[in-house]
Amino acid sequence: MSQVKVLFVCLGNICRSPTAEGVFTRLVDAHALGDRIQVDSAGTHAYHVGAAPDKRAQQAARKRHIDISHLRGRQVDRRDFEHFDYILAMDHDNYTHLLQMSPPEHEHKVSLLLPFAGSEELPDEVPDPYYGGTDGFERVLDMIEQAASGLLETIKQRHF
Ligand code: 4NP
Repeated sequence: MSQVKVLFVCLGNICRSPTAEGVFTRLVDAHALGDRIQVDSAGTHAYHVGAAPDKRAQQAARKRHIDISHLRGRQVDRRDFEHFDYILAMDHDNYTHLLQMSPPEHEHKVSLLLPFAGSEELPDEVPDPYYGGTDGFERVLDMIEQAASGLLETIKQRHF
């Protein structure tokens, strides 16, 4: 059975994209689609390769019963553009960076994550919480949870 492969991308792969990976993996599992949808995350930069998610991101996720402590940072690789079906950027900088890296034939796979929420109240990017307080991490989770639901519905309609 072919899988739909989803990659979440931010700058460092220690705050937003591992959070998105954790949120979306839980949602996929709750819909018993774990064997149909592969989920991963990566960063556009290599600053935190091999590192666990930021403690604040781990804690905020844990409060919602999501464990992301086992994830480790990695950098986006050219092969990712071939492997994944959806390459979802957290913000405009990540999006631009991904388009610069992508082979032309895979550019259509790259998009921003938040528009999948289908909400006019949400902005179209997840703000970088790294230099802010813990509130920022709660807001990141709220935004990502909304987008994750919309993303799963889109995938179900398009592929299953
Ligand atoms: P992320 O957050 O892109 O959501 O993982 C950041 C993590 C680290 C840095 C910036 C943003 N940094 O500058 O090291």
